[in-house]
Amino acid sequence: MSSHRLPSRPAPTAAPTTTPARVRAGRSISVLICAVAVGAATACAPSEGAVTPSLAAAAPASPGTGASASTVGAPGIGDPDFPTDGNGGYDVQHYDLRLSYDPASRKLAGSATIEAKAVQDLTSFDLDLHGLTVSRVTVDGGAASFSRSKDELVIEPGGQISNGARFEVTVDYSGVPEPMRDSANLGEYGFISTPDGAFVTCEPNGAKTWFPSNDHPSDKATYDFRITVPAGLTAIANGEMAGTPQTNAGKTTFVWREKHPMASYLATMTTGKFQIRTGTSARGLPVYVAVADNYRGSLDQLYTQTAKITDYWSTVFGPYPFSSTGGVIDDYAAGYALENQTKPIYGGFSPAPTIIAHELAHQWFGDSLTIKRWRDLWLNEGFATYAEWLWAEHTGQYTADSAFRRYYANAADPMWSYPPGTARPDDLFGAAVYNRGAMTLHALRREIGDDKFFPLIRAWTDAHRYGNVTTQEFISMAELISGKNLKSLFDAWLYEPRRPAPIP
Ligand code: TRP
Ligand code: ZN
Repeated sequence: MSSHRLPSRPAPTAAPTTTPARVRAGRSISVLICAVAVGAATACAPSEGAVTPSLAAAAPASPGTGASASTVGAPGIGDPDFPTDGNGGYDVQHYDLRLSYDPASRKLAGSATIEAKAVQDLTSFDLDLHGLTVSRVTVDGGAASFSRSKDELVIEPGGQISNGARFEVTVDYSGVPEPMRDSANLGEYGFISTPDGAFVTCEPNGAKTWFPSNDHPSDKATYDFRITVPAGLTAIANGEMAGTPQTNAGKTTFVWREKHPMASYLATMTTGKFQIRTGTSARGLPVYVAVADNYRGSLDQLYTQTAKITDYWSTVFGPYPFSSTGGVIDDYAAGYALENQTKPIYGGFSPAPTIIAHELAHQWFGDSLTIKRWRDLWLNEGFATYAEWLWAEHTGQYTADSAFRRYYANAADPMWSYPPGTARPDDLFGAAVYNRGAMTLHALRREIGDDKFFPLIRAWTDAHRYGNVTTQEFISMAELISGKNLKSLFDAWLYEPRRPAPIP
């Protein structure tokens, strides 16, 4: 509480001379994606009415309370907007992924061992898997039967797994991964092959394009990765490397471990030819940065900015939640970035510091604190966008207040008809979720003052570190810490389809 430097109050000076970070990844997504949507309106239709089990199905078992009679795990975890994402009936603790990728044939071979705990009696349960060919499934070492139905891998262990029991599933599979296309109005995401490897960015539900998973952010788990690629290439995953890569018979195996809980959409196995720089930040945090060969000129600046910004955010948002920080620039021209845990990835551009600031802010907002359902996405993107404004304020480019007022002044902005507190499944990453989400935080900051706002943010990251969160939990904490009733503020900013009244 003593050492943090708060962003200065908005100075009564001129509006920013530069446009607040317009050319940034998340937003160019909505632009790019709207263009896609115009050409293919049906791509935006919500998925067909599938089962909508209650989120309770995925909640930790409440032993003794009359569990549902069914012993069939639900094909969705209960997110009303993404009814077949994730699965019911169990909770994953750990993924152990053994993967081998050959860029020439684009073939992925994998063996995934999933340690899970049943939250109901189970005679059958699903994993999410998109494409790929499954050759064998075992449950606790015994062969299990399985079938495929769309993106569900349905597994029947042969006996019953009792509510509360821990079990281990191993899935052997291979094939040429197919990325997700146009789902959630997003273009391509998931496992995307590149000439020398793969660019792997999975938000919101593309983890299933490369490993069988409970592919929904409400079920976080720890990860071990053992990735084999042709010698000369680098395989990059989350967390830290365990030991030196080993080369044998022209292939190199990289072992990575993410020991903190992680949502499946933040997992990566980005591979290719990379220049690497490692070291330690001024505050003592390990840093791992990798850039594709043709971005070698950006290696040092990515390294320096990543270390500096991670350290700064730890003074504003609270202790950094993971064991290393970093970043990757790949030469796949996605034009956007993703906040992969411990190592955000930048797709085909050298990121400006505000974008690095955005992705690193996600390490707290999105990665450590993870949403329970996608409609609360403003808790990720509104916070990360507000972090861009805070970074600009900290570095003297423009103030958060001037950014707020600039957006507010445009009464015709379509974001006024899109309430960001309910992110829409057909336009999850719409500009309103980012910009009006950030404005919500600024309106809150003005209402409760810096002396409540910044302690609130740190209390938020502290109370829910490594957990799952909802908007209601944030509102309750804001009311508790400020001692104010904030219902009308949050209603106006998050839930009303119109421009709120001006803030003082
Ligand atoms: N969360 C990303 C950001 O704002 C945007 C994003 C959403 C994304 N889905 C993606 C990026 C898929 C890459 C791939 O930084
Ligand atoms: Zn973002």
